Amino acid sequence: MAASYESRIRCLEGLNLQIGFWHDPEGVLNSEKIKSVIAIDGPAASGKSTIGRMLANHLVFLFLDTGCMYRAVTLAVLQRGIDIDDEAAVVDLTESVELDILPPWGKKDGRLYTVLLDGQDITWDIRTSEVDLNVSQISAYKGVRQNLVDRQRNLAKRGSVVVVGRDIGTVVLPEAPLKLYIIASTEERAYRRWIEQRNREKSLTYDQILADMIRRDRIDGNREHSPMRPAKDAVIIDTTGLSPEQILDQILTLDYFHALGESR
Ligand code: CDP
Repeated sequence: MAASYESRIRCLEGLNLQIGFWHDPEGVLNSEKIKSVIAIDGPAASGKSTIGRMLANHLVFLFLDTGCMYRAVTLAVLQRGIDIDDEAAVVDLTESVELDILPPWGKKDGRLYTVLLDGQDITWDIRTSEVDLNVSQISAYKGVRQNLVDRQRNLAKRGSVVVVGRDIGTVVLPEAPLKLYIIASTEERAYRRWIEQRNREKSLTYDQILADMIRRDRIDGNREHSPMRPAKDAVIIDTTGLSPEQILDQILTLDYFHALGESR
């Protein structure tokens, strides 16, 4: 099931996104390109980024993890000492920051992509518990969402893309022909995140991660603007107890992929 070396390279080349300035002269997501847009949503640490990246590699599609954009804005707010309750200031900052997502460029530290904030490499700085603690409040602001959703739609106009987040199937790309909503038991999600994070933040316990995840899911699911929920036509995939390879195999049996194969 592993993607070929060539397909990985093409996928990484496709990841060279100048989010701040990229503009599609065609202006709209046309009916041909929309056929190759896959939307993946789900709660924290449900495995959606792992699956999204594997699927993108397999199909030689671009992989766009929208969570890193909300995290980058949150880091910018924290670094600049802006009061996170000051919605207007947070929105102003969101509109002014330059965000780039680039291939890892040979960095062998486990990164899936490199995130730049105003030219600075912040790939790992956005994965701290401090960002986890603040990101959902900032993501709930309407102006923040409007700005980042515009950037996301602009990027997806190219087609051949797997876009991962919380509101992709419902708000960002409701036209996507395949929408997946990835879930897993709360305990398994917290365990996966603890494994991922324990080398970077040694003092963080499983219980702290579990509590933060439950809190974030509650805020993300109950906010006024674009709450996290499956689109009506989303396929729900429960990944509890399954390996990433098993999940990908299950997803690839969906009818969508037969139709996509025929149209390529
Ligand atoms: O990796 P994890 O699932 O923990 O989170 P993430 O995908 O990096 O997203 C971090 C936070 O960004 C979420 O808890 C949401 O508050 C926010 N987010 C959002 O509101 N909408 C998205 N499309 C993606 C992320």
